[in-house]
Amino acid sequence: MFPAERPRRLRRTAALRRLVAETSLAPADLVAPLFVAEGLSSPRPIHSLPGHAQHTLDSLHEEVRVLHRAGVGGVILFGVPLLKDEFGSGAWHDEGVVQVALRSLRDEFGDELVVMADLCLDEYTTHGHCGVVRDNGTVDNDATLELYARTAVAQARAGATVVAPSGMMDGQVGAIRQALDDEGFSDVVILAYAAKYASALYGPFRDAVGVEIADGGDRRSYQQDARNRREALREARADVEQGADIIMVKPAMTYLDIVADLRRELDVPLCAYHVSGEYAMVKAAAQQGWIDGAAVAIEQLTAVRRAGADFVLTYFAGEVAEELSR
Ligand code: PBG
Repeated sequence: MFPAERPRRLRRTAALRRLVAETSLAPADLVAPLFVAEGLSSPRPIHSLPGHAQHTLDSLHEEVRVLHRAGVGGVILFGVPLLKDEFGSGAWHDEGVVQVALRSLRDEFGDELVVMADLCLDEYTTHGHCGVVRDNGTVDNDATLELYARTAVAQARAGATVVAPSGMMDGQVGAIRQALDDEGFSDVVILAYAAKYASALYGPFRDAVGVEIADGGDRRSYQQDARNRREALREARADVEQGADIIMVKPAMTYLDIVADLRRELDVPLCAYHVSGEYAMVKAAAQQGWIDGAAVAIEQLTAVRRAGADFVLTYFAGEVAEELSR
């Protein structure tokens, strides 16, 4: 037998494999999610996200310095406020925890590093929903847009390079773009969580930010249904039409078909969020000695890139960046 195709020829040496590799994974393709908390005197470890903590302003700076030195593409901030209220006013207050952190990081890093702010209300609301809740318990889309607009402007004023609306309200990107432009922030980039699914993989994140949805509720009336594929394209197109500069699919591994679809159909930069539950599963199995955690992480993040994402938000950013530069 002499098969015409001999694919193994190109796999013989590491140098050949590197030469013909279709996908690359570099530290610059990774964005690190970070938590900054109000009222802590030292960082508080997050048990369900081993290696991560709710940061003080000082420990946040230290962590960002390490990530910056490792060459990661950026960081995205989530706030853990001391006090919550019905409307989540901590999200847009100029002294809100994320605004304080943004100003401070901006002072140290300027435009050397892409600093993003997650834009949502759930960390700041007593009921844990991503928007304004009506008396009957439903989430009021248009009342929420106003609060997102305010939050975007506060984050921009504090120095965010990118704002990333994650609440899945209809029209959120348009409302935010309009508000940013009106206030003179037309340079601020919008990274839209375009196809965000109602996923059980956000569990560790909700621990990390101390969010519990009231009355055993969930986010199924605003986040997408895992059974739907075409719907993601409609969501993403709407976001691009409204002015999204970058779009995101979330979570990552369970939704690689969506990443591939959006890559094929749209030409804006695309990223995916390898979420808390995805990180926690790898970490837990690695801690048992059942898998090689770093190797699995690199394989998964490479798969996200191969499916078509330009970059990946991941709790592995620091660890994998170090591993890649070995
Ligand atoms: C909402 C938000 C969530 C995550 C990012 N932004 C949680 C949710 O929708 O319940 C999850 C991220 C993760 O699991 O890593 N502000």
